[in-house]
Amino acid sequence: MQLSTKHLLGIKDLQLRDIELILSTATQFKEVLQRPIKKVPSLRDTTIVNLFYENSTRTRISFELAEKRLSADTLNFSASGSSVSKGETLLDTVNNILSMKVDMVVMRHGASGAPHFLAKHIPVAIINAGDGINEHPTQALLDAFSIKEKCGKLEGKKIVLVGDIMHSRVALSNIYLLKKAGAEVMVAGPPTLIPKYIRQAFDIRVEYNLKKALQWCDVANILRIQLERQNQVLFSSLREYNFAYGISKKLLDSLDKEIVILHPGPVNRGVEIDSDVADSKQSIILQQVENGVAVRMAVLYLLSNKQNFN
Ligand code: CP
Repeated sequence: MQLSTKHLLGIKDLQLRDIELILSTATQFKEVLQRPIKKVPSLRDTTIVNLFYENSTRTRISFELAEKRLSADTLNFSASGSSVSKGETLLDTVNNILSMKVDMVVMRHGASGAPHFLAKHIPVAIINAGDGINEHPTQALLDAFSIKEKCGKLEGKKIVLVGDIMHSRVALSNIYLLKKAGAEVMVAGPPTLIPKYIRQAFDIRVEYNLKKALQWCDVANILRIQLERQNQVLFSSLREYNFAYGISKKLLDSLDKEIVILHPGPVNRGVEIDSDVADSKQSIILQQVENGVAVRMAVLYLLSNKQNFN
């Protein structure tokens, strides 16, 4: 089976069967990652560049490890320390790298739409590792994989995204994916951090009262306040944000059920989530990171169009 797209630019472009194929392939790769030798030869003849124009810990390491587990040759490019500071354009940079016989591009960029622009100009597959405030498709796929693993299915599950919805590419990719998969979706947070027309645009619930949102859901995905993307004051202070919208153990214990807690990272402890929640048995934050490698192996493998990874 093959994906219906040449690139992974966003969950918006995927069909449900693409999502299901990626998640089922990731299950097979997760089994590979439990073996003593956690490596398959599937992408032995493939060279992949990881182009990071923005900082990253999880996504960058996860892609690099996924590539190594698939036996691909990998190159890592950071905009800082490169000739970007001398005025070289994105397209010139990528065309120079591709001239060295590189087969696939993984790219994180601060500008929304940067990978979509690139896809119109270069002949190889592009995987979006996060573009501005637009999408972060592999994060949504690994979140979905982790929820399925923990809860058994996505369809019919009540999932709330909490926090800075306005500036979050994780939120948008999750909304697209969860709606396609038949989950019930809510966003919760302060009115200033939730886009005005999101309810009508996506047919999702909006809740400004955190306790009501948590009481409604099976799973809560807690988002970081993206201060680096906010160019105006949208709430009074981080302390006050924590008071009104931070996830505390006391708040979780006051619910009449045990919900599952996700966070894409990086975590700001004491702001959107308290340490005793992030480190609790309700939290699957580190399982998300573990699953990210298998999910990214699946995406790389399927977009390379190679078969029989064993
Ligand atoms: N979740 C995520 O994208 O983390 P990084 O910014 O560390 O890659």
